[in-house]
Amino acid sequence: MRGDTAERYGSITRWFHWGMAVLIIWQMLKFFDRISEGEHWVGQTLVPWHVSIGSLILILVIARIIWKARQQTGPAHDPATAFLVKAGHFLLYAGMVLMPVTGVLTMLGGGYGWTAFGIQLAARGEKVPWMGTVGSLHSPIAWIMLILVAGHIGIALFHHFIKKDDVLQRML
Ligand code: HEM
Ligand code: HEM
Repeated sequence: MRGDTAERYGSITRWFHWGMAVLIIWQMLKFFDRISEGEHWVGQTLVPWHVSIGSLILILVIARIIWKARQQTGPAHDPATAFLVKAGHFLLYAGMVLMPVTGVLTMLGGGYGWTAFGIQLAARGEKVPWMGTVGSLHSPIAWIMLILVAGHIGIALFHHFIKKDDVLQRML
């Protein structure tokens, strides 16, 4: 089952969700650069992929939004909290867009160029102050997204283990 139905999320939505969840958690490891200036295993093996994985997320989130917009239906939410759920999911989407966009602007604004998976997308050059200014929102948005994702995971586990409903099941 590829598309979403009223009972559960389809396989493509689930692939997007879990594939991107892994990549976003990987990206969050960039916070570990704050420990010993990244001079440790995480900082030297996983974090150097930051720009490449972030660029991949930028492509994936565009594809995911197009896919989401094409879904005619999807699992229903409890009407009492449906608005909050929609707002929370919207903010997660906003974070998935804003993180890579501000990341790219950090690189371009600083004149560092942009290379992903060895492919040069923009050469080193002059600093672009406005891009640097917008790019400086990358870190604050990362903190907000970390809190949103932690809350999202907490709510999913609350549904599964405390309320014992099918909310986690329909995304598995
Ligand atoms: C969903 C995608 C992304 C996530 C979740 C993410 C997350 C993060 C996090 C958590 C930090 C550490 C912030 C801190 O310690 O205060 C960071 C820093 C950084 N990221 Fe990203 N990032 C993403 C995409 C990108 C992309 C696409 C680029 C570049 C093309 C990029 C470039 C940078 C740079 C240069 C830094 C260090 C400077 C700074 O903190 O602003 N990021 N990112
Ligand atoms: C790490 C980054 C994550 C992001 C950015 C994220 C984002 C989202 C978004 C936007 C949705 C709405 C459905 C959609 O459009 O695809 C969703 C649904 C869902 N997520 Fe996540 N998610 C993440 C991780 C997780 C994790 C680790 C869990 C499990 C512990 C989880 C459990 C769920 C569940 C159960 C739903 C369905 C909720 C419902 O039907 O109301 N998510 N997620």
